[in-house]
Amino acid sequence: MKNIFNITYFLPVILSCTFLGQLSLYGQQNSQTSTDNNLAQNSISDDTESKIEEILKKLTLEEKVAMCHAQSKFSTKGVERLGIPEIWMADGPHGVRAEISWDDWAYAGWTNDSITAFPALTCLAATFNPELSSQFGFSLGEEARYRKKDVLLGPGVNIYRTPYNGRNFEYMGEDPFLASTMVVPYIKGVQENGVAACVKHYALNNQELWRDKVNVEVSDRALHEIYLPAFKAAVTEANVWALMGAYNKFRGQYTTHHELLTKKILKGDWKYDGVVISDWSSAHSTIESAMIGLDIEMGTGTDGLGTTTSNHYDHYYLASPFLDKLKSGEIPVSVLDDKVRRVLRLRYRTNMSNNRPLGRANNKEHHDVARNVATEGIVLLKNKNNFFPIKDDENLTIAVIGENATRSMTAGGGSSELKPKFEISPLQGIRERYKKATIIHSMGFASGPSVYDEVIPSKLNADSLRIEAIKTAKKADIVLFVGGLSKSHLQDCEGDDRKQFGLPFGQEELINDITAVNKNVGFVLVTGNAVAMPWLDKVNGVIQTWYLGSMAGHAIADVISGDVNPSGKLPFTFPIKLEDNAAHSFGETSYPGVNMTQHYKEDLLVGYRWHDTKKIKPLYAFGYGLSYTSFEVSNIEIDNKLYTQDDTINVSCAINNTGGFDGAEVIQVYIGKPNSKVKRALKELKGFQKVKVKSGAKSNVNIDIPVNSLMFYDETISDWNLEKGNYIVYVGNASNNIFNKMTISIR
Ligand code: BGC
Repeated sequence: MKNIFNITYFLPVILSCTFLGQLSLYGQQNSQTSTDNNLAQNSISDDTESKIEEILKKLTLEEKVAMCHAQSKFSTKGVERLGIPEIWMADGPHGVRAEISWDDWAYAGWTNDSITAFPALTCLAATFNPELSSQFGFSLGEEARYRKKDVLLGPGVNIYRTPYNGRNFEYMGEDPFLASTMVVPYIKGVQENGVAACVKHYALNNQELWRDKVNVEVSDRALHEIYLPAFKAAVTEANVWALMGAYNKFRGQYTTHHELLTKKILKGDWKYDGVVISDWSSAHSTIESAMIGLDIEMGTGTDGLGTTTSNHYDHYYLASPFLDKLKSGEIPVSVLDDKVRRVLRLRYRTNMSNNRPLGRANNKEHHDVARNVATEGIVLLKNKNNFFPIKDDENLTIAVIGENATRSMTAGGGSSELKPKFEISPLQGIRERYKKATIIHSMGFASGPSVYDEVIPSKLNADSLRIEAIKTAKKADIVLFVGGLSKSHLQDCEGDDRKQFGLPFGQEELINDITAVNKNVGFVLVTGNAVAMPWLDKVNGVIQTWYLGSMAGHAIADVISGDVNPSGKLPFTFPIKLEDNAAHSFGETSYPGVNMTQHYKEDLLVGYRWHDTKKIKPLYAFGYGLSYTSFEVSNIEIDNKLYTQDDTINVSCAINNTGGFDGAEVIQVYIGKPNSKVKRALKELKGFQKVKVKSGAKSNVNIDIPVNSLMFYDETISDWNLEKGNYIVYVGNASNNIFNKMTISIR
């Protein structure tokens, strides 16, 4: 598959900014969110199901088949004579993508399709704040609705397995419980607008390299305990209306039409009544697409069946070849009817609903949500001698160095590329916030334009950029190095993986040179992935800022200046070196695979589960993140010692803010089963709560954990099973910072 994306543009330092006000960080309720809006409900009324049956009777075979495949890059046919509308889809997980041409990947060049770019989903996950996820989903759904989209192609919940995966930035981290907890409110929020969320990519699409053909081999336990829970939550808790298949294979069969994944688990066990949409050109067979669960085929030609011929959509597996097999009786019409029922259900939930709001885009509320998610998701990794926050002062010169200070981070990356109405660059955000200090700037390094599937080196002279940056650093009291990855090919970008764990484009050398002339350096790390940090000891502060969208620069300035106290926590582990990551420690069989097959050798031990169990010290652990204030956690208790299967474990504690800033802390509860009869991770995240506490104040935390959530997937019975006996409850504020361990017993 070949996408063509625009060349990256560099953000002019002064971009239009319609919003300058300071926001209150917590408890921002979106007044538009209505919990009683029945659009968010899954069940289609009996009345609607009868209407669907009536429509089915009126449709010809040809009209029904036409509903099961694309008619253009992002739409499917309606039935004009019956007033049934087309279905329109758009990427993606963190903003509504600009209009694409009818028949090719070029942008259509509309002038009214710019939107709010929300932070990418790693940032959302790092907030550990489900309420913010609801606001994010609702605002994004409003923008999709305003742009007249029926299906929003997101969220993505593929688990972070390797820091090389070029698409991790679009996903919600390495922990299935965190991803499940955050994805549910997002989906409900989107769907309240009468726009379907489309959770993707189902399943085991955990790398971009060879994504269209690699065969994944993984145990049933890891499948059910690690890779499926977020999809399951999307279906059974959020009642998602659409789901996208993946490109890769699992146990030799393509995942988009998969006996176990689609037919048995999704449509059988989870009773999914929505549509399965292919990834763009991920279907590979008419019989399998028809018989094991694909409902709508989208894409770019199909296995070479005519991208260049006119009406190539008619050649899709679920187009003419499907029609022929229905006519010959090889495929029963009941199979088609099941698909059309689902497609009509999607329409009644979206463009045939009588209860659909109008949507809004680029409004202040959306910018506020984008900024709140961004500031709450930024993670303070290092803060030697209180390097941050930096006070504005007329005697202060701050050098902002690095290409990421001015480069657009909404351009590039693949299908999640956005065309925001504005994007505040880090440099602009810092300049607007620091009115008294002198801000000087150097680009420092250059990464070249972002072009899909292609690396185009920068034409700028690397040496001159470096020399200039060192000069700038010498003149300053403080250096803020704004670097990291870009959204270019082989960086944080769809279609391939990263090829190096360290920072690209000469940044490691540049940081060495800068810290040699200025000792007061802080790193603003712009990535969606973990990177090696050989330079860590040389810098005084590090903030992990992800890709923050339209409000990036303001959010970064909020945190750097201390207007907002950081409270983000890492949604995945930063290993010291690549081989410390579980997937990489088993060599090529495990990543990227040999002869197009890969074995997930680490099995259940993904992310912190691996580091904990194997006692491999991470550089920065899952759940870790500093604050400008200090917290004291006391009275950590559980409500009982003995529980049975239907009980709920209540974990409580008190938290005092003993420092000088208002702030927020995330209390995390992990549970482990010592002496288990099956292989287990030392501990697994089972509950968390983000609490806001004012300086000098105290709050109480209560976290409920259903005993049922301690079940493991028992391969001997192919079902979930609860092991009786003792468990250890760990309470902390990071996977490697545990305040207290308590033993409970399950009988
Ligand atoms: C991506 C999907 C995306 C689709 C449409 C595919 O290449 O994998 O995530 O939704 O293209 O742009």
